[in-house]
Amino acid sequence: MANLKAAFLVLVVAIFSSMASTHFLNPLILPYLKAFTKSAALAAATFFSWPPPLLLTRKAVSCYHRHHGRHGHHHRGNGNNTGASVCDSFPPDFPPPDTPTTAILCVDRNGCCNFTTVQSAIDAAPILSPKRTIIWINSGIYYEKVMVARNKPNITFQGQGYASTAIVWNDTANSSHGTFYSGSVQVFSSNFIAKNISFMNVAPIPKPGDVGAQAVAIRIAGDQAAFWGCGFFGAQDTLHDDRGRHYFRDCYIQGSIDFIFGDGRSFYENCQLISIASPVAAGQKVINGVVTAHGRASNDENTGFVFYNCSIGGTGRVWLGRAWRPFSRVVFAYTTMTDIIATEGWNDFNDPTRDQSVFYGEYMCSGSGANTSTRVPFDQLLNDTQAAPFINLSFIDAEQWLQPFDTQLILLPLASSSRTY
Ligand SMILES: *[C@@H]1O[C@H](CO)[C@@H](O)[C@H](O)[C@H]1NC(C)=O
Ligand SMILES: *[C@@H]1O[C@H](CO)[C@@H](O)[C@H](O)[C@H]1NC(C)=O
Ligand SMILES: *[C@@H]1O[C@H](CO)[C@@H](O)[C@H](O)[C@H]1NC(C)=O
Ligand SMILES: *[C@@H]1O[C@H](CO)[C@@H](O)[C@H](O)[C@H]1NC(C)=O
Ligand SMILES: *[C@@H]1O[C@H](CO)[C@@H](O)[C@H](O)[C@H]1NC(C)=O
Ligand SMILES: *[C@@H]1O[C@H](CO)[C@@H](O)[C@H](O)[C@H]1NC(C)=O
Ligand SMILES: *[C@@H]1O[C@H](CO)[C@@H](O)[C@H](O)[C@H]1NC(C)=O
Ligand SMILES: *[C@@H]1O[C@H](CO)[C@@H](O)[C@H](O)[C@H]1NC(C)=O
Ligand SMILES: *[C@@H]1O[C@H](CO)[C@@H](O)[C@H](O)[C@H]1NC(C)=O
Ligand SMILES: *[C@@H]1O[C@H](CO)[C@@H](O)[C@H](O)[C@H]1NC(C)=O
Repeated sequence: MANLKAAFLVLVVAIFSSMASTHFLNPLILPYLKAFTKSAALAAATFFSWPPPLLLTRKAVSCYHRHHGRHGHHHRGNGNNTGASVCDSFPPDFPPPDTPTTAILCVDRNGCCNFTTVQSAIDAAPILSPKRTIIWINSGIYYEKVMVARNKPNITFQGQGYASTAIVWNDTANSSHGTFYSGSVQVFSSNFIAKNISFMNVAPIPKPGDVGAQAVAIRIAGDQAAFWGCGFFGAQDTLHDDRGRHYFRDCYIQGSIDFIFGDGRSFYENCQLISIASPVAAGQKVINGVVTAHGRASNDENTGFVFYNCSIGGTGRVWLGRAWRPFSRVVFAYTTMTDIIATEGWNDFNDPTRDQSVFYGEYMCSGSGANTSTRVPFDQLLNDTQAAPFINLSFIDAEQWLQPFDTQLILLPLASSSRTY
């Protein structure tokens, strides 16, 4: 048992590391990425002990020069886990002091700085702070259910890479009073930012016909949220893009059924959308997955999902979207699609009256899944004029709130910096 466990953890680490070194949109890595996630993480997280042992730590720390000449930090936190050396290479002057516009809280699973859980850092963040609170999270997997309450706006989660830092839990609709509360992370506040971190739900993948097995990785219910270089891992209902204006860039989003759903007004740029629905043999008619289920309920709402320069791949045979609510609105632009996309493209949720009210558009997409010759009649191949409002960050009023990735980025000091040793 112990050996098996060790082997599994090595696998998870290996796959995580391989993800870190791969590039977006490289079709060669898709089968490999598909192999990751559910199988490995799920097994590690649920088949073995709970909570599972720490899989990855100190990746960020290990690139920091060890000889910093200060030893006072070695006994910070619970520094007794693996002897006195666990925090040896942790930077002594980290996190940096607050500035007039930022407060920085440090989370390290091994106790090398103030907080060992993400939630404890959120709890310590001031209520209704006019400053941004940056929660710097060291590499590692954080097994906890996390909530950012409405009265904690302006929070940033900054991880060390979506393949090395993750918040993981395993609630389902059944275990949490409904899908909407199953999120491993739930964000209710405005102006939330996440950089270089993954959100995962490792509940068992639903089998066909299962009820109550929906398992959200993150629910985003606050306005003006931005996600840069983040991962979203789950199966059914992975990413609950609930409400508000949201921006996603360079993200990896994995799931099976309705894996991006909600009534958000969101712009997804350069993202990979990966289906893990079961493989479907060529010629078989079955549809076993859906990328989006947008929830626009009336023509008065200005919500919708836009995917710009994204890619869709993975396994199964999936629809681009289905009409969860009558005015569901989704546009794919400049997006490559493999042949996992069902040729009809979209589904009206078995309600033909919705064919009149949904807005499902495609613009300048490519790949074998983007052949629109046998799409449903309510698919719209947009012309330049029709596409213009959607292929523009003004769709989410970005000019009013979105800041560049490197604004207030907190980096660990590296050995090559001006420090003296
Ligand atoms: C989550 O994992 C724990 C530990 O394996 C298990 O006891 C619990 O039943 C799981 N919850 C769900 C909803 O699967
Ligand atoms: C080591 O840490 C564990 C868990 O935090 C704690 O229960 C134990 O008392 C600690 N042991 C020592 C010697 O500090
Ligand atoms: C972090 O820990 C240091 C001591 O190690 C303490 O001085 C500081 O107040 C703590 N900061 C927070 C935000 O808890
Ligand atoms: C967020 O912080 C900025 C300053 O960085 C401040 O102007 C703004 O009021 C804050 N937002 C909220 C909702 O507190
Ligand atoms: C963090 O995300 C940014 C934006 O996607 C990306 O350029 C950068 O390489 C990522 N950094 C790490 C350490 O993964
Ligand atoms: C959810 O709960 C219902 C009612 O108790 C039960 O029939 C169903 O099997 C449960 N689903 C899962 C995935 O456990
Ligand atoms: C499209 O996305 C790919 C992969 O993320 C990126 O390399 C490329 O620069 C993007 N193209 C544009 C025009 O933004
Ligand atoms: C699109 O699909 C139709 C019907 O299957 C096929 O005849 C046509 O050759 C395809 N077009 C391209 C560009 O592959
Ligand atoms: C685009 O399509 C709309 C609606 O069909 C039409 O009114 C408009 O003239 C078209 N514009 C161009 C540039 O083709
Ligand atoms: C984006 O939309 C805004 C407002 O509609 C417009 O002013 C701007 O020119 C557009 N940008 C581009 C690149 O089309």
